[in-house]
Amino acid sequence: MAKELSGEVYYPSEEVINYARIKDWEELNEFAKKNPLKFWSNEAEELHWFKKWDKVLDDSNKPFYKWFTGARTNIVYNCLDVHLKTHRRNKLALIWEGENGDWRTMSYHALHRETCKFANVLRSMGVQKGDRVTIYMGRIPEIVIAMLATARIGAIHSVVYGGFSVESLAERIEDSQSKVLIVADGAYQRGKIVQLKKIADEALERCGTVEHVLVVKRTGQEINMESGRDMWYHELMNLPIANNTCTLEEMDSEDPLFILYTSGTTGKPKAILHTHGGYMVGIYTSLKYVFDIHEEDRYWCAADPGWITGHSYIVYGPLLNGATSFLYEGAPNFPYPNRWWQMIEKYGINILYTAPTAIRGLMRFGEAWVKRHNLSSLRLLGSVGEPINPEAWRWYYKVVGNEKCPIMDTWWQTETGMFMITPMPCVPLKPGSGTRPFPGIEMDVVDEQGNPVGPNEEGYLVIKTPWPAMIRTVYNDPDRYVNQYWSRYPGMYLTGDSAKKDEDGYFWIIGRVDDVIKVSGYRLGTAEIESALVSHPAVAEAAAIGLPHEVKGNAIYAYVILRNGYEKSNALIDELKQHVSHEVGPIAKPEHIEFVDSLPKTRSGKIMRRVLKAKALGQDPGNISTLDE
Ligand code: WTA
Repeated sequence: MAKELSGEVYYPSEEVINYARIKDWEELNEFAKKNPLKFWSNEAEELHWFKKWDKVLDDSNKPFYKWFTGARTNIVYNCLDVHLKTHRRNKLALIWEGENGDWRTMSYHALHRETCKFANVLRSMGVQKGDRVTIYMGRIPEIVIAMLATARIGAIHSVVYGGFSVESLAERIEDSQSKVLIVADGAYQRGKIVQLKKIADEALERCGTVEHVLVVKRTGQEINMESGRDMWYHELMNLPIANNTCTLEEMDSEDPLFILYTSGTTGKPKAILHTHGGYMVGIYTSLKYVFDIHEEDRYWCAADPGWITGHSYIVYGPLLNGATSFLYEGAPNFPYPNRWWQMIEKYGINILYTAPTAIRGLMRFGEAWVKRHNLSSLRLLGSVGEPINPEAWRWYYKVVGNEKCPIMDTWWQTETGMFMITPMPCVPLKPGSGTRPFPGIEMDVVDEQGNPVGPNEEGYLVIKTPWPAMIRTVYNDPDRYVNQYWSRYPGMYLTGDSAKKDEDGYFWIIGRVDDVIKVSGYRLGTAEIESALVSHPAVAEAAAIGLPHEVKGNAIYAYVILRNGYEKSNALIDELKQHVSHEVGPIAKPEHIEFVDSLPKTRSGKIMRRVLKAKALGQDPGNISTLDE
C-alpha cells in the first residue's frame, strides 16, 4: 500500500489493482529510473523490427536526439501486419459510428487490406518515400486508412484538422510542399455539412504544390471536381491498381513518420516532426500501461485524428496494442445530450478518454442524461488537453464512472508525442493533478534561473531527460526547434506551461505561459488569430488573448484598431468574427471583439497581451516598466 498522501486522494480499489497490468507503480518507476535505456529497450523488444538497433539512444548531437539508431522498421507493420499472423486477424480494429447513425466495423484483416489498396493508389500517383501528403477530413474510417497508407509507403502525412479553414489549410499545404491532398467532400457536424472540399478548393487557390486531390465521398452533396486534378477515392479503390497486397517500405528508425502543425509562441504554426521508431515505442508503451489495454477491451478516445491525441491514441497506439478503437464522427450532444452515453452502452465501451471541456459541456445537461444508460462496461476514464477542474473531475468520477473507474489525467503535448505526466490505474489520484511523470522520464518545475522551486511554488515546467517519442525537429526549421525548446535552459526541454509540484511530488498544471491559447482543448496561437484579423480590410492592428470560460476553459477576446474610414459597429464585429472563422476555422472565432484606439506595447513594439489580460480581468498588470505609453 502506498504512503498516506496529502489533500483529496482517491486510492485505487483492490479490484482495480487486481485487474491492472502494473500493480506496483513505484517498482516500475524505480527500475526505469535506474535503467532508462533498458526500460525503453525492453519495451521495444515487444515490437517487430526488420533489424534491431545498434544503440538505444544517440545523444551525441544534442538536442537532436536519436532513438533506436540503426534499426529498421515501419510503424504500420506493427499496427497491422503483425496481427494478421495471430488471433487478432479477425478482431475488430475499428468500430465507427457516423453522426447520422451510419456505422461500420473493420477487422484487422480488413483495415490491412484497405490500407494496402490505398497505399497502392498513392504509389500510382507517384508518391514516394519522404513525400508529404496532406489529409483533411472529418472523423471517418478513411482518415485512418489514409494515414496508414501514407506511412506504409514511407511518405510523411500532414493531417490538418477538419475544423480548420481556408488559410490554415493553405498555409500547411504550402509549408509542407504536399503533392497530394486527401480530402472528404464534407463532414457532418451537428446535423449540418461542413464543406471540406469547397474549403480545400479555396485553399488550393492560395498554394501551388498539389498535383492530385483524392476525394472521399461522405456527405454526397454536389461538389466541384476539377478534371485532371480531382479523383474520387471510391473509384480509385476499384481500379486494378488498388491491389490487396502492397510491399511495405522498410524505414530507418529515425525516418520521418509524420508532421503535425501546432501553434507556438510566435508566428506561423510549426510542423512538429515525429519518426517511425521512437514514436512507435513511446506510444505503444504509454497506452499499454496507462489505459492498461486488455485484449477484450473496447477503447474510445474521443479526440479528433487531426490532433496529436488522435494520431497517438486513436490511430497508432491502439493498433500497436492490437486493441479495438472506437471512432465517432459527430458532436457529444447531438441530437441529444445522451449521444455519448448511448454509444458507450451500445458498443460496450470499456475505456473513455476525452477532454475536460467535453466533460464540463455534458455536465451542464445534468446527470439524468447519463443515468438513463447502463455504463457498467466502463473500467477506466481519461482526460487530456487542459487542466481539469476538480468539480468536473468529481462529476466524471461519480456520475460517469460510478465511483469505480480511475481517471487518467494525462499531460502531454504535440511535441512530446506521448503521455508525460500521468497516473496508471494503480496510482492514487488527486482531482486536478496528472500525478507524476511516466517511468523513465524526469520532469521538474523551475524558476527563471532554471533552479527547482520548492513544494507548491509556481514555476516553469521542464523535461530533464530525453524520451523516445520526443519531437525530432521542426520540419525545415531546425533553428526554431533549438530556440523554442532548448535555449532557455540548456539541457532542459521547455514545455511552455507553468506548474506546481506538491509535497508528494504530484504535478499540478496551471496553464500556458506563452502566446498559446487552449480553447476547448484546441491549441491556437494568438498570432494566427491576429493575422486573420489584420487580413480583413477594416483592421489596422489586432491583439488576441484568452480569458477564462466556464466550458471552453479559455475564450478568445480580440482587441482591434480600425483603419481610417471604417466605422465601429456591431455588424462589423460580426463580420470580423465570421472572417476569422472562414480563415482559421470556427474553433478560432473570437467570443468577443472590442474596438480600441491603441494597444499596450513595449518600446520595441511588442504587444503586451499580459496587460490586456489583466485589464480585462480587473487585475493588477504587474511590472509595466517596459510599457511604451
Ligand atoms: C495542455 C495535447 C493540463 C498543456 C495532448 C500543454 C494539459 C498543451 C493537459 C499541449 C493536462 C495537455 N492537464 N494541461 N492533462 N494535457 N495540456 O499540443 O498546456 O494540443 O502544453 O497536445 O495542452 O497541447 P497539444
